[in-house]
Amino acid sequence: MKVLVVGQGAREHALVRALRLSPSVTEVHAWPGNPGMVSEALCHPGEVGDSSALMKLVKKTSMDLVVIGPEQPLAFGLADDLRSAGVAVFGPSRQAAQLEASKIFAKEFMTEAGVPTSAYQVVTSLSELKSTLAEFSPPFVLKADGLAAGKGVVICASETEALEVGKQILQDKTLGSAGDRLLVEQHQRGYELSFLCLTEGQGHQLLPLAQDHKRLKDSDVGPNTGGMGAVAPIAISESLMAEIQEKIIYPSIRQIQAMGMLYRGILYIGVMVTETGPMVLEYNVRFGDPEAQVVLPLLEGDWGDVFFKVARGDLPQLQWKPLASACVVLAAENYPQGPVQGTPIEGDVSFQTASSYFLHGGTGRDSQTGTWVTKGGRVLNAVGLGSSLPEALQHAYSQAESVNWKGLQKRMDIGHRQL
Ligand code: GLY
Repeated sequence: MKVLVVGQGAREHALVRALRLSPSVTEVHAWPGNPGMVSEALCHPGEVGDSSALMKLVKKTSMDLVVIGPEQPLAFGLADDLRSAGVAVFGPSRQAAQLEASKIFAKEFMTEAGVPTSAYQVVTSLSELKSTLAEFSPPFVLKADGLAAGKGVVICASETEALEVGKQILQDKTLGSAGDRLLVEQHQRGYELSFLCLTEGQGHQLLPLAQDHKRLKDSDVGPNTGGMGAVAPIAISESLMAEIQEKIIYPSIRQIQAMGMLYRGILYIGVMVTETGPMVLEYNVRFGDPEAQVVLPLLEGDWGDVFFKVARGDLPQLQWKPLASACVVLAAENYPQGPVQGTPIEGDVSFQTASSYFLHGGTGRDSQTGTWVTKGGRVLNAVGLGSSLPEALQHAYSQAESVNWKGLQKRMDIGHRQL
């Protein structure tokens, strides 16, 4: 089977790697992919959002399956376009992708489904924001309604800060039309879990439970990022798991059915476990990044076969290796505000051992010398596997030690909650 992965980050590199290791897959292609995956996939230059060029490529190369990594092409309806052309696609429809592309749509969906989530209000102007803040207590959570490349959620300690952020988003349009509407949400304290549900729209299979680390610095301080590292599987009590299945996962899948959404892919449910019980923070309509990096290597089986079956509307049973995995993100200087690009990377970016390797998210080649440089925020991911989480973490951190660059940022406490 020939498979095309759409996207260009470390999550897509993890998908490429998983497909390379799938006996059912004979060729792995990427659109556009990245320079770090060229030895594992045939990368085709193009824009992730250029649906007509992508359709041409899929037809010309007689691709058997397309796996869509990021949310933007899903929100633009790429999966629908490909399905209309008779192509098997792993990824939900445009309608379903609204669960991630509109935070307000997602909140209304949760209300309909009876899924627990924080109280919220929608505002469209600064004056509305000011009066709405009075109904909430600090810290204030502001969420842009639309897709904002990981910059759409800001936690503000004070009203002054919330009004400043609100001004930037609502008036100065720093996030473009994604910030036309803003949600003010009651802040919740607790810890986050990433539930990745494989679904064909009717039932679901849970992937190993993962935990991301969204803040830039150790001990969960500093700005929010796309994710600085992840571990899996996470152990939680049977009673908490049962509560989350009953109150969150089953009702979410039932609501997808009730709304007649075509959903063949991953439903990622970001859950906050609070003192008053679990609540949904967000839905994502794709694998998490970096959660994919830790979950994909744990399958006992063939991802190509799993994706193809789901793309055709079947839901296979999944089995998991008795392993743990860890991912440590190595970020560029000044990430996330303005990652420094073009910094030379010292060390061997293709270094690997039997239990650790790099996935590329934001690397590039210097145009003069061909040497590796930083070309994005989350530059490399060091992934480690082991028979226990401490072992997996040890492998990931020693893998991470094999490279360096000026201003490299990494957290040293990935997995701390589990240890
Ligand atoms: N790790 C968070 C996300 O993928 O959205």
